[in-house]
Amino acid sequence: MKLRLLTIIGARPQIIKAAAFSRAVAAWNKNAQKPEVEEFILHTGQHYDDNMSAVFFRELGIPEPDCNLHVGSGSHGVQTARMLEGIENVLIEAQEKGHGFDGVVLYGDTNSTLAGAVAASKLHIPVFHIEAGLRSFNMSMPEEINRIVCDQLSSILFSPTMTGIRNLENEGFVVYDADGKKDSDKVKSRRFKNGKLQYALLSGDVMYDNAVFFARMAEEKSDILQRLRLKDKDFVLATIHRPANTDNADNLTNIMKALADIAEAGTDVVLPLHPRTRKLLPDKLPSALLRRIEESPRFQMIEPASFFEIVCLERHARVVMTDSGGVQKEAFFYGTPCVILRPETEWVEIVEAGAGIIADADYSRIMQAYNDLSGRMVHFPPLFGDGNAAQNIIASIVDYLH
Ligand code: UD1
Repeated sequence: MKLRLLTIIGARPQIIKAAAFSRAVAAWNKNAQKPEVEEFILHTGQHYDDNMSAVFFRELGIPEPDCNLHVGSGSHGVQTARMLEGIENVLIEAQEKGHGFDGVVLYGDTNSTLAGAVAASKLHIPVFHIEAGLRSFNMSMPEEINRIVCDQLSSILFSPTMTGIRNLENEGFVVYDADGKKDSDKVKSRRFKNGKLQYALLSGDVMYDNAVFFARMAEEKSDILQRLRLKDKDFVLATIHRPANTDNADNLTNIMKALADIAEAGTDVVLPLHPRTRKLLPDKLPSALLRRIEESPRFQMIEPASFFEIVCLERHARVVMTDSGGVQKEAFFYGTPCVILRPETEWVEIVEAGAGIIADADYSRIMQAYNDLSGRMVHFPPLFGDGNAAQNIIASIVDYLH
């Protein structure tokens, strides 16, 4: 008997996370572990530009999606509704053909995660949530709503960090087997809610698996530092894509002014632009500031980076400035301090370790955090597992379903 799993992806970071899981499934089967696992990949089409999607399949050696719903962009309601309909069709069609899916694997907190959780759980198909338990406690973020709903509906919640496990304990999960040690990597919790038993496991972070697996390959395959004429530990890498920053003229102006000042003071600044940010810049920024940035020899706005390119930039930057959760973490994995351009973070352990400072979109706080992190020794304790999170996850899923 084979176990059939449907992996649902849609946005750029999910494609990257799925690479770690697909590798672990391939290793599981190669080592003749039983039962054999068959993985099908459904791409919702939430991200569709070549540099937001296809490039990651090429670089990371992920199997091509078995199915792409091509939902594209839209309001949250429209986008999620299209996904819900498409995913449900795929799940029902498989059931009708007599080979329904045994489980659905979801990543993170995007609209693709939300749609997958709702479609699968209504068809009584177990949901496995990778990157569960994280909370920003900020319900104005669409991601916070998506992850809370997905966690409610999941059979196993795989938390990358102890913070995630503690958040879930606050929501009623109780530790039942921690091998005697609460901070051990075997923490298991469970709760009985709405007539259903749910499990939460500390799995480690699949993005850390990728950091371990791809770091050397990225260095060998990308020439971005030479192309952009950047020197090791002598530039700032920035990314901005959250609606709270891109859609708010004051926030975007404050952040861009800080970056422009850093560039003018003599440090190179690289800003790979998410398509959302690129579209909004002319609308939201004062034209004088935009002109200053475009004319600044040390300020490079570039197309969205591929995975290997962003890894090289994260590793070699002096400081990373970002409102992305994934970029915060990758900077940490590679030993680069980070200014967090949000009012809070789900990755609180980075801040507690002193490797990240929350500056929101406040000009003075950004400049102060930048100066502080550029000028002192920063430590990067191992907080995100041992690089085998995806292996732990596949073993737990099989154990649950078998
Ligand atoms: C989504 C996720 C966010 C994640 C991010 C990673 C939700 C609610 N948000 O945000 O959690 O951090 O992905 O990048 O799911 N666009 C293009 N080409 C593309 C994709 C998008 O031009 O290939 C433009 C469109 O104008 C679109 C906008 O970017 O309207 C936003 O895309 P969307 O998928 O709605 O959300 P993201 O901001 O990418």
